[in-house]
Amino acid sequence: MAGRAHFVVNDLTSTGLRDTSVSAAVSIDALQYADHRAPAADGTRRILRRGGRLVVTGWHPLSFGDSRLPERHRHTDWPTVLSAANFTAVECQARPAGPTPTSASTASRSSWATRARNAALAGLQSEALWRLPTAHLLSRIAATAIAS
Ligand SMILES: C[S@@+](CC[C@H](N)C(=O)[O-])C[C@H]1O[C@@H](n2cnc3c(N)ncnc32)[C@H](O)[C@@H]1O
Repeated sequence: MAGRAHFVVNDLTSTGLRDTSVSAAVSIDALQYADHRAPAADGTRRILRRGGRLVVTGWHPLSFGDSRLPERHRHTDWPTVLSAANFTAVECQARPAGPTPTSASTASRSSWATRARNAALAGLQSEALWRLPTAHLLSRIAATAIAS
């Protein structure tokens, strides 16, 4: 990869990459964090060459608008967002995302009963304890689309 790859740190809505400069883009559970998804999707389409492919993973609500979910996940609909950003051939595969509330609650009480001392593990633990109780309300999704 030497000389063929480089890293850029920037915002999802303003990557700093030139228009039509990449042939493929992959977002693993990241585009959903953009403050505004439409401009982030549009920006991703603009950096792709015509015919370039985007792959996005994330979560969709099983029931659209479910108020038990964090706001970020309640109305997620990547096919609609990607189509509005002029992607074509949008496809989305989904499967149930998480454990049942019972197994989530058992995991919370048993294996994670002790607070992790390592800061990174403590962060993961805290996110898991917050996310698991509603994980069964989500679908895990992978969407693909072509820049037109
Ligand atoms: C759930 S993590 C996924 C990270 C990585 N793709 C992976 O699979 O391990 C979400 C990532 O999105 C990044 N992120 C959140 N908001 C962002 C933004 N507005 N612009 C750029 N990156 C952002 C976070 O820094 C974090 O690295």
